[in-house]
Amino acid sequence: MMADHDHDPGPPTHLLRTVADYERAALPSMSDQARSYIDGGAGDEITLRDNADAWQRLALRPRVLTGVGESDLSTRLLGVTRPHPLVVAPTAFQRLVHPDGEVGVARAAAATGTIMCVSTLASTGAAAVAEAIPDQARWFQLYAFVDRGVTRDLIQSAAAYGYEALVVTVDRPVLGVREREWRSNVRDVSRHGPSGAAAAAGPAAAAAGDTAGGTPPADYSALIDPNLNWSDISRFVSESSLPVLLKGIMTAEDAELAIEHGARGVIVSNHGGRQLDTVLSGADALTPIVDAVAGRIDVLVDGGIRRGTDVVKALALGAGGVLVGRPLTWGLAVGGAEGAQRVIEILLAELHTALALSGCPRVTDLNRSFVTRAPWAGSK
Ligand SMILES: Cc1cc2nc3c(=O)[nH]c(=O)nc-3n(C[C@H](O)[C@H](O)[C@H](O)COP(=O)(O)O)c2cc1C
Repeated sequence: MMADHDHDPGPPTHLLRTVADYERAALPSMSDQARSYIDGGAGDEITLRDNADAWQRLALRPRVLTGVGESDLSTRLLGVTRPHPLVVAPTAFQRLVHPDGEVGVARAAAATGTIMCVSTLASTGAAAVAEAIPDQARWFQLYAFVDRGVTRDLIQSAAAYGYEALVVTVDRPVLGVREREWRSNVRDVSRHGPSGAAAAAGPAAAAAGDTAGGTPPADYSALIDPNLNWSDISRFVSESSLPVLLKGIMTAEDAELAIEHGARGVIVSNHGGRQLDTVLSGADALTPIVDAVAGRIDVLVDGGIRRGTDVVKALALGAGGVLVGRPLTWGLAVGGAEGAQRVIEILLAELHTALALSGCPRVTDLNRSFVTRAPWAGSK
């Protein structure tokens, strides 16, 4: 672990029963810099906070006497039946918090039947993750580099290493205003990645890492193409054998364009509140997008998912799947692969309970009648 101070062992892990428990327990095991990088958001962090709050502004409307003894979490994503709707969100540099890093999270995902989306900026690259944990459902998250040769290599290598989808992140043409990272002088993130194909960006990548002095953190922004546009998406779709999802879609207009340009899915996401502050939460952006898409492609959502009830609400609003980011990193920080696995298990157990208590034997039974705006919403 990267703690740069005396390590507080925290509570024994059997006492960690919720995602919030893991969040608290992760704090002492992370350095100030790791904390700022992982837990921070953009600007005044209004969107960061609202991502979690927005799920709490929704109340559930349970039905009763529906016979929920045979609960079934299985769902279809990109035409494939999955055991449940959770997906590990791509998060960069996971070895920042624990040496198990991405391989540990992949192990946790494999043990729980969870799709893992591996970041372009993973500290253990996509190829090495695939080699370490071959029997696992995985998607590859693509940042399109200015160097299109590197981008092409990344796309080809994803298919060669058995990745089942290409998740193109479209909400990071430039890096958000990360004030918490500036204050704690986050600059050594690049020591933790990327490796693999992304590292093929070569000396330029290392240089970008080193020039962090004034521009925190040691980011790879200079390598990521700010001119990425819809014609690139059409090209990725035609050049790749993999289905393409666009991550970071926030409007019905862009969801429509995503369909026009051949995407098989959109992920409603504000990048965990790390990019443009004061955009809507995933929860609030979701409904108009689900309506516009009208079942033509898959719609997933992320941001602030911390409870099984949050997942139920997302699915009730029409999401087909839900990505979870920081909770996995907290689990990893606390207990490596085991901690990450425990976090997924907690969310799945809560999802089972929330579903049964909502009167739904199957996740596919959920619809909008199960949620309503909460009377306490004004105070959140
Ligand atoms: C530390 C960290 C690193 C991230 N790195 C990436 C990344 O490399 N690519 C990407 O598309 N999204 C990245 N994200 C955004 C996540 O994929 C996801 O959208 C977000 O974390 C979901 O919100 P949550 O953390 O509240 O669950 C990152 C998020 C965090 C917290």
